[in-house]
Amino acid sequence: MRFIDPELERYAEQHSAKEPAYLVELAAETLSATDLPQMLSGHVQGRFLSLLSNLVRPRLALEIGTFTGYSALCIAEGLAPDGVLHTVDIFTPVAAMADRYFRKAGFTDRIQQHIAPAIEVIPRIEGQFDLVFIDADKSNYINYLDLVIDRMTTGGLIIADNVLWSGRVLDKARDQDSDTQGLSAYARRANTDDRLESVLLPLRDGLLVSRRK
Ligand SMILES: C[S@@+](CC[C@H](N)C(=O)[O-])C[C@H]1O[C@@H](n2cnc3c(N)ncnc32)[C@H](O)[C@@H]1O
Repeated sequence: MRFIDPELERYAEQHSAKEPAYLVELAAETLSATDLPQMLSGHVQGRFLSLLSNLVRPRLALEIGTFTGYSALCIAEGLAPDGVLHTVDIFTPVAAMADRYFRKAGFTDRIQQHIAPAIEVIPRIEGQFDLVFIDADKSNYINYLDLVIDRMTTGGLIIADNVLWSGRVLDKARDQDSDTQGLSAYARRANTDDRLESVLLPLRDGLLVSRRK
């Protein structure tokens, strides 16, 4: 699935930092070996996640929705020297592939993979989060926000993917399916909760970046 004109996407890629070679390989393997390769964040969004992570330098980061590990590795690039990323997914067929690339990239001791529903895993992780990337089941986005919002460090970032949902968030409320309703509710909440300062970026399928005040 293409979110913007392919030529513009190529232009954006040419004018963004290059991906590490292991991410080029991971993206190619995801394309050939999985049914839904469009779930992967991709070059420009991945470089943006890496940039945000490098600004925050998280000591504790959380990713909800590992898939083949592409965005996890982008976030891991910015971890503080003693930082750890917890990444959670229920989709087991690609867990070994993600693990293989975490090893190849040299992050195996800094990325902890959890294979279970995120709702169960998040309360078991101890500490305050500096960066959270929400990229899993859309109807639970608000529940994930509720689980992390008071566990964020001041200035910490909560980043939510797919908040434009290929434009379906513009459908009338009564025509929206549960995923679209979940994403619409998340965007409203992120922009009205006094604890957050948010910007919805129309990057790829929409990235909502919220800073914990
Ligand atoms: C869009 S993909 C993640 C893509 C990845 N973040 C990237 O950019 O490469 C969404 C993932 O969320 C996972 N997921 C769905 N429901 C989940 C749940 N309840 N808990 C944890 N992960 C879940 C799916 O199995 C899928 O692998």
